[in-house]
Amino acid sequence: MSAPAGRARRVLAATAVAVAGTLAVGMAVAAPSSADAAPTLGQLAAAKGRYFGSATDNPTLDNAPYTAVLGGEFNQITVGNTQKWMYTEPSRGQFDYTQADRIVAFARAHDQVVRGHTLVWHNQLPGWIDTVPAGELLGVMRNHVANVAGHYRGEVVHWDVVNEAFEEDGTRRQSVFQQKIGDGYIAEAFKAARAADPNAKLYYNDYNIEGIGAKSDAVYDLVKSFKQQGIPIDGVGMQAHLILGQVPGTVQRNIQRFADLGVDVALTELDIRMNTPRDAAKDAQQAQDYRTVVNACLAVTRCVGITIWDFSDGYSWIPSVFPGEGAALIYDENFAKKPSYWAVYEALGGTTTTTTTTTTTTGDNGTGCTATYRVVGQWHGGYQAEVTVRNTGTAATTGWRVGWTLAQGQTVSSLWNGVLTTSGQQATVRNATYNGRIAVNGTAAFGFVGASAGTNPAPVITCATT
Ligand code: G3I
Repeated sequence: MSAPAGRARRVLAATAVAVAGTLAVGMAVAAPSSADAAPTLGQLAAAKGRYFGSATDNPTLDNAPYTAVLGGEFNQITVGNTQKWMYTEPSRGQFDYTQADRIVAFARAHDQVVRGHTLVWHNQLPGWIDTVPAGELLGVMRNHVANVAGHYRGEVVHWDVVNEAFEEDGTRRQSVFQQKIGDGYIAEAFKAARAADPNAKLYYNDYNIEGIGAKSDAVYDLVKSFKQQGIPIDGVGMQAHLILGQVPGTVQRNIQRFADLGVDVALTELDIRMNTPRDAAKDAQQAQDYRTVVNACLAVTRCVGITIWDFSDGYSWIPSVFPGEGAALIYDENFAKKPSYWAVYEALGGTTTTTTTTTTTTGDNGTGCTATYRVVGQWHGGYQAEVTVRNTGTAATTGWRVGWTLAQGQTVSSLWNGVLTTSGQQATVRNATYNGRIAVNGTAAFGFVGASAGTNPAPVITCATT
């Protein structure tokens, strides 16, 4: 198969999409909804000169609801399994690209760039590898890399050339390649990949190297020595299989130190797992964790893109490997967007906030207020909003009242820092006992979680001091 040279670069340089701009006080801005044709994660990432993608595997390509999201939401795809050695060279010297070609064709049809995964890895190898005499394995490895990277020449923007070559303590993993070829096998794999596809960016890829530590130090030293020796390496892939609430504090600094060596960085397999089942608190933490990771990447110019390791909790590798854990992705099993989706969306510059303010002049003794309504998270069937009341008068308030209409059948299911009453479609929130007094130009805020069946546009909100 062939593709026009430079296709990948053109896609990555895709025209910036129109992203809703800064919200202005006093303006009502529509929340994204299907009717509003909100930008996709891929479009938002492209507007920042990056990609946001997903891994995928062949069985799901026949699942229409799945492929609708895969093809529509992302501007990058990683071949999750079927470019691995056991699939591409099941018998020595016999290459089979049937399955991986299908994924690459899907990506091409949806204008998505492809990360190739992976040329040399200790896992998912065909059984015959173990029978190759030590003296022949370097030739076998070079031949494999030449064939696979050659087959996808022009189709793959990044190759994970070598995957997971280090142990947690920074020593070399004793893979068949390490044992039979020795330390030099990694450099040889990169040289073979460069020869096979000179335009693909060549990555070293590993897990638990997102933060600074013994393992990432070992990778750092490898990259540094490759750079010094002129061995071709273009990027480091940090897999980012993370745990809820445990995003390493050094992620951004770590990405930056690799960038400073003169290589790109990609977050290649992001997921953030939790003990199942999900609940609202875990979802909120996960959203915060995704936001932290995306922001860390965006803060470093050479962090070129982020890939999640499949996008739906129903198609994740986690539950089968970590029983009792899962819900690690940004869509649920039914392809509904989770709070983590909206966190990524916002971090990439998308606007989910709906803001409207109304000033009242009815307060006593020079008091008055504005109320700012903001949707801070939306998911299938629900949303979380926050309302900030500001004292715009010349004296402290003793109480306040905010009102809006639940015009689209929304409900408010729980509310904090205020007292809710509803009458038909009218919602009214009065201050709680402890936050009625707002100093001049000070604020009080309340929040709530609600349900919304369809669109959830910004309400007109009123505010009065009492
Ligand atoms: O293809 C067979 C199928 O015929 C059989 O019916 C089925 C029964 O279990 O197994 C299928 O193979 C599975 C394969 O995925 C394809 O679904 C293997 O058992 C299973 O072990 C394999 O897991 C993959 C794993 O790599 C192997 O280590 C995951 O899907 C894949 O997501 C995962 O990806 C890795 C990255 O490549 C590297 N970084 C870590 C990441 C997560 O482990």
